Amino acid sequence: MRAPSAPLLSLPTSLGEETGPVFGHAILGDMDHDLVHNFAEPGESAIGPRIIVHGRVTDEAGRPVPNALLEVWQANAGGRYRHKKEGYLAPLDPNFGGCGRVLTDEHGHYEFRTIQPGAYPWPNGGNDWRPAHIHFSIFGAAFAQRLITQMYFEGDPLIPLCPIVGAIPQKDAVQSLIAELDMSRTVPMDARAWRFDIVLRGKRQTLFENRLEGL
Ligand SMILES: [Fe+2]
Repeated sequence: MRAPSAPLLSLPTSLGEETGPVFGHAILGDMDHDLVHNFAEPGESAIGPRIIVHGRVTDEAGRPVPNALLEVWQANAGGRYRHKKEGYLAPLDPNFGGCGRVLTDEHGHYEFRTIQPGAYPWPNGGNDWRPAHIHFSIFGAAFAQRLITQMYFEGDPLIPLCPIVGAIPQKDAVQSLIAELDMSRTVPMDARAWRFDIVLRGKRQTLFENRLEGL
């Protein structure tokens, strides 16, 4: 119902878009990968279940993709975004901004800290709720190379009820978006961990919202 009805147009990119810029560690702040603290007042932290999200970014052959810039954005623990057009009645958390970013290391690994987002309702079918999710953007070596997806949490009963998830034709593709609880990376008495691996191309490719052709 919400998908475009006409074929997508392919616009040529300019040389500048194809060749630069290249991201480096210098553009990142110390707290960019810590959403628990990166918007909080000194000594404060965001409200909600503390989690670590980590995984690997790989290509179709399983090779790691280093230096990929991941940007993430999400609702707070109550399911509310910090956005001027957000209308959900759940309160804002004054210590949670909901945005972060991180670069993959030489092994293609990334990790960030955040709080588990809440589910939120949206005016689609009258009583539709988005499962808890984190939005991801993955840049390649240039601004023109960008993939966008959403990560869900294993075991969330709202996943099969979500119309947006339901618009994905293949079950495998849905599975590629669900992070698994990873007790091996949990920090005792601090944060649970979830693993979300991202495959950029090939048969096991993660589903990307902006690359749906061929599905
Ligand atoms: Fe969302």
